[in-house]
Amino acid sequence: MKSWLIQGGRLIDPGQKLDEVGNLLITEGKISWLGSGEESPPHPNYSTLPAHGLIVCPGFIDLHCHLRESYLEEKETIATGTQAAARGGFTTICCMPNTNPPLDNAPAIDYVRTKAKTEGVVRVLPIGCISTDRQGKKLTQLGELASAGAFGFSDDGLPVLDAELMSQALEWSRTSGLPIINHCEDTTLTAGGVINEGRISLALGLPGMPAMAEETMIERDLKLAERTGGWLHLAHISTAGGVELIRQAKMKNIRVTAEVTPHHLTLTEERVIECGTQAKVNPPLRTQQDISALIRGLNEGVIDIIATDHAPHTKTDKRSDLTRAAFGISGLETTLGSLMGLVHRGQLTLTTLITKLTSEPARILGHRYGQLGTLAIDSPADITIFDPKKDWLVDLKTFASKGKNTPWAGFVLKGKVMATIYGGKMVYRDESGTTKTKIQETITKFK
Ligand code: DOR
Repeated sequence: MKSWLIQGGRLIDPGQKLDEVGNLLITEGKISWLGSGEESPPHPNYSTLPAHGLIVCPGFIDLHCHLRESYLEEKETIATGTQAAARGGFTTICCMPNTNPPLDNAPAIDYVRTKAKTEGVVRVLPIGCISTDRQGKKLTQLGELASAGAFGFSDDGLPVLDAELMSQALEWSRTSGLPIINHCEDTTLTAGGVINEGRISLALGLPGMPAMAEETMIERDLKLAERTGGWLHLAHISTAGGVELIRQAKMKNIRVTAEVTPHHLTLTEERVIECGTQAKVNPPLRTQQDISALIRGLNEGVIDIIATDHAPHTKTDKRSDLTRAAFGISGLETTLGSLMGLVHRGQLTLTTLITKLTSEPARILGHRYGQLGTLAIDSPADITIFDPKKDWLVDLKTFASKGKNTPWAGFVLKGKVMATIYGGKMVYRDESGTTKTKIQETITKFK
C-alpha cells in the first residue's frame, strides 16, 4: 500500500486539541507519524501530497444519510452514494433503513455491509429499522440486527408515533447501549403539509408543517428516555423550541444526543420561493430565528453533531409541484462549502465545525469500529484535506451522487474538499485547480 506524506498543512484534530502546521505520514493505511516542518519522517519511501494553506483533519463522519440500496437504485446506489461522500470529505457514513424493502432484518443489514465492502469507497455503517416494515406497530429483532452490524435504529422518514413502541425500543437501548434515532414529527399535525407553516406557506397558499409538530414529539421522546434510561438520538432538529427542550433535558442528565443538518443551519423557508421543490425537505426549512437557535445550540453543545440527511431523488421525483414532489436534499457534496459560510461570517469557529463533523460523531459511534474521527497515531488514515477559502461553483454535472436535488445548484460556495483519504487510500482528489477566473468562465457557461 502506498505511503503518503501530507506536507505543510494546518493539522486540526479537535479530539486531541491539535491545531498546528506540520506534516503527517500515512503507512499501511494508518497514521504513523506527525511532525513539524523541520523534523524528517522516520520512513523514507513515500509520495508527497503538498497541503500548504490547506486544512488537514480527520475524515468527516455522517451519522445520517440515505443510500437507497436496495431497489431504489434509480435514486442512488452504495457506489454512487459513497463516491458522493468521498467528494464531500466523508470517510464514514451511516445509512438509513428506509429502502424498499426496508432494512428491518439481519440479512438486509448484512447485504448493505457486504455490498459496501465491494462497491463502496468509504466506510458504510447501516442503521436498522425500529419497527417491522417501518409500520410503527411491532419492534424488529433489534438484537439480531445489532449482531448483523446495525449501528443504531430508526424508522427515519417516519416517526415512531406509538409511545409504547418507542418506550420498548428505548428500554432495549438501555441494556444494549445502542441509540434509538427518532424522526421527530407528529404526523397528525403535519398531515398534507409541504413547507414550514408560517409567513411563506400563507403567502403561497400551501399547507404548512408547524414547528410544534417537531417540538411535541421531542418532548414526548425526552420523557420516554427519562423514564426508561435508554439512549435517544434526535434526527435533524430544525426548530428553536426543539433546541430549548434538548437543552433542558441535558441539564437533567437525560441520555440524549441530537443532530442538525447543513441545510437547516444555512437556509430559511424563503429558499422555496427561489428554488421550489429543490428546497422541499422534511423537516422543512424554517425561519432565521430557528437558524440562530440551531447555531447557538451547536456552539453551546446542546446539539452534538452535524449530519447531512443526504436524501437523493430522481429528476422525476422533484419535477412536479411543491405539493407532490418528494422531500429531500442531496447534501453530501455541499456540506463543507455551505457550512464554511457560517465560519466565514464568524457564526461558527473552524474548530467547532470540524468537531461536529469528526470527533463528536466518532464519540457517538464509540469504539466498535476502531478509533475514528482522529489524527491519533495508529488510527485508520481517514483524512480530509480542504481549502477553506477556495471558491467553487455547485455544478450538478460534477456531482457523483445520482441525486441532483439541491437548492445550492448554480451557487458559488467558499470552502472546498481537495482530497479525501480512506484507510490510507486516496478516494477523492480535486483535479480542477480552479482559479477565480476559471470560475467566472464556468459561471458564464453555466448560465
Ligand atoms: O426530506 C427528507 N427526505 N426527510 C426524511 O426524513 C427522509 C428523506 C428521504 O428519505 O428522502
